[in-house]
Amino acid sequence: MTHNLNYKAKQAARYIQSQLNEAGLHPKIFLVLGSGFRDASEQFDIKIRMPFAKIPGYGLPTVEGHGSELIAAQVETRSGIKDLLVATGRRHLYEGVSALEVCLPIFTAHELGIGNIILTNAAGGISEDKKLGSVVAISDHLNLTGHNVAATSVPPVFVGMDDAYCKPWRESVCQTVGITSGVYAGMLGPTFETSAEANMLKILGADIAGMSTVQEVIAARMNGQNVFACSFVTNKAGEPSAHGDVLSAVKASMLTIHATLLAAIEHAHID
Ligand code: HPA
Repeated sequence: MTHNLNYKAKQAARYIQSQLNEAGLHPKIFLVLGSGFRDASEQFDIKIRMPFAKIPGYGLPTVEGHGSELIAAQVETRSGIKDLLVATGRRHLYEGVSALEVCLPIFTAHELGIGNIILTNAAGGISEDKKLGSVVAISDHLNLTGHNVAATSVPPVFVGMDDAYCKPWRESVCQTVGITSGVYAGMLGPTFETSAEANMLKILGADIAGMSTVQEVIAARMNGQNVFACSFVTNKAGEPSAHGDVLSAVKASMLTIHATLLAAIEHAHID
């Protein structure tokens, strides 16, 4: 990480830690809510709300409808009450910010000693079975964004990306909730895929395509953090859905969305 970003992550972590100390919370899980998953924070017992604008070093998402606060919450699972740090939104490369800026929350979580990262997003379906309304656990990715957050380190770091999406964690969630997994094609956006591009992604072995997550996963690997990631399918890649169709699909799949997050929180590896 560059010195500037390292400084920003430390500043952000110091502010967040002071808030956590006041509330007596010790989160070991950081959850990033993407489109489709945003309302999920309502199922948590929210203890602290920190608008991104108040956190030193944090930038604000510029996309309307994307959340802009960090929440510290507690969640009751079958294995007890878990403390959780939740970002209700994220920044994307297509907003014109660097990969390092996109990943600042992941580096901040690392500064806070958080070793488990849950990433959620919206995606277009490529494989036939990844239909509108499905929740898909990500098993691997194709980084087609043209960016790589690891390329910003001086000296360069060579990051192993085998098993970047923690297999035992993913398998436990898939088994508990009954969802399938798939390969995520990470695109720069903000254009959706053309039909030809959607065909290309299918040939390359992608099951779903989206515009976030891959840089955050690389950052998590740089830090040695465990990752569980999942997508909510909002459309068929190459055929964006009408907003109303997406909203009704989210509503119809709310139980699966909640169950997936709860299972991910429950099965996180916490020492
Ligand atoms: N492509 C890329 N990103 C997306 C899509 C898509 O079809 N749907 C939601 N996010």
